[in-house]
Amino acid sequence: MSRMLATEIPMGKKQVNSDRQGKIAGLAVVVMAAGLGKRMCSKQAKVLHRVAGQAMVLYSVGLGLRVAGDRVAVVVGHHADLVRQVIDRATSGMSGEAAIAIVEQREQLGTGHAVLQSRPVFAVGKRGAPSNYLILNGDTPLLQESTVRELLRVHGENHATVTVLTAVLEDSSGYGRVVRAHSTEQGVARIVEDRDANAEERAIREINVGTYVVDGEFLFSALEKLDPSNAQGEYYLTDIVHLAEQSGRHVAAVVLDNPDEGLGVNTRRQLAEAEQVVRQQIRERWLDAGVTMIDPASTWIDATVTIGKDTVLYPHVTLEGTTVIGEDCVLRSSARLTNCIVGNGVEILDHCLFTDSHIEDDAHLGPFVHLRPGVVVRKKAKVGNFVEMKKTDLGEGSKANHLSYLGDTTIGKGVNIGAGTITCNYDGVQKFQTVIGDGVFLGSDTQLIAPVTVGARAIIAAGTTVTEDVPEDALVIARVAQVNRAGWAARRRALQDRTSPEALKVKRDAKSARQASDVSRLTKKQPSVSKGKQAKKRK
Ligand code: UD1
Ligand code: CA
Repeated sequence: MSRMLATEIPMGKKQVNSDRQGKIAGLAVVVMAAGLGKRMCSKQAKVLHRVAGQAMVLYSVGLGLRVAGDRVAVVVGHHADLVRQVIDRATSGMSGEAAIAIVEQREQLGTGHAVLQSRPVFAVGKRGAPSNYLILNGDTPLLQESTVRELLRVHGENHATVTVLTAVLEDSSGYGRVVRAHSTEQGVARIVEDRDANAEERAIREINVGTYVVDGEFLFSALEKLDPSNAQGEYYLTDIVHLAEQSGRHVAAVVLDNPDEGLGVNTRRQLAEAEQVVRQQIRERWLDAGVTMIDPASTWIDATVTIGKDTVLYPHVTLEGTTVIGEDCVLRSSARLTNCIVGNGVEILDHCLFTDSHIEDDAHLGPFVHLRPGVVVRKKAKVGNFVEMKKTDLGEGSKANHLSYLGDTTIGKGVNIGAGTITCNYDGVQKFQTVIGDGVFLGSDTQLIAPVTVGARAIIAAGTTVTEDVPEDALVIARVAQVNRAGWAARRRALQDRTSPEALKVKRDAKSARQASDVSRLTKKQPSVSKGKQAKKRK
């Protein structure tokens, strides 16, 4: 929510029109994301640092797409290729309309210089020049769409040339200060950067958030006039405010009701602060949408996750990436799911770790299940206690309940995977497939040496090592035949007591056997030795 302080002007011809999806006609968006962000002390470009699992730049890009549709340019510089990749990946699933123009700012000469790089993208073509530009910093992930829409509304209503978003902070250090023309009820005269501000200006608590709406005809001509003679030797975008005011144009402002929304992330502390705020917003959004959280504070949900109604999340559940959870699911404590799709009515017990996997309706998993990428658990299937799966399809109603490794395996419907079953899918060089038909029963401690196929309804006896394909309906036993030695164990137990008659007898027998062998050695005929060898020996 935000409140307008600039002079009210009745609705005029410059009103912003939005279509049914809320995309505003004639609006273009520029996101500045070229800086390294020295204050982060990081090898990574600042805008790639994640907030609630999503790169910071994507918050600004997403907002731009929601208000302006397809006229969005992102200015990249530091780690340009990585930033481009992250944006491409995040927007690839969108409709063709959502193409984003990426422009490179080779040298980071300031925010004004950054925006200037986007000029060719919006050069007049078939579609005509944008009537307004929305300019966003790439490091303000808390900014809300409703605020941006309010900024656009105020800009239109005021016939403003520039409209800036501001916030009043307890501690305004580090930010650009908003210098009002005469009083706060008047327009804005200029923005002075922290490092260029004198003592009086530093005392100003109203700051520039870094979100602007600028008239289409004014923007680039003003950017050309920027002068980098300031403390940082940079072309400041913020100087267009003064340029507009000087030439008698109107600069409007919207002050944030909730100043937290204007947080600019420059340091790791601010990143942690943003993380807390966004996480809380996400939790509230899902609580409002009908998700139960036993302990919201310990429940971690990424910005890109979706959760269905009446699903219950127990403490310490973590849902990451593109995970989608259906309705009526229960996720018990300490389950972590990354990029997973979970159907309806699924129960996941404590301490499970799932990645890039798909779980169908009414399946039951856990406790202690590890699903590595590429697993499909079909309807009503069960996976339990200490089972690890990878690239495996477990058929409808099938069960793998105890202590197993199943990799590169296709398992049919109604299969029982016995406790301790292992698919031996790797020969040290290559991986091989295992196929298990419908209705197969694998006894406990079965090893399947891949590649191998077990035909439908076959039964594998416990402890079998399956090395060859098994025909349908067969019984397979491959293990050493059992030998029973009557009384053997009792005899061994008796021997363990050294004073027992049995033990003494064994001792006596052993002694006499030794003596007999000594006698036989002494009385044995010496082997004959040749004369030559005897001669040698004597030497
Ligand atoms: C900027 C504003 C400041 C405001 C603050 C709000 C300027 C001159 N100052 O300061 O008034 O209070 O944001 O958070 O605009 N960037 C580029 N190319 C560059 C320089 C920066 O693309 O050459 C990008 C950065 O990647 C970042 C954004 O612009 O996303 C802002 O840059 P940053 O260095 O963080 O500006 P601040 O010093 O915070
Ligand atoms: Ca900043």
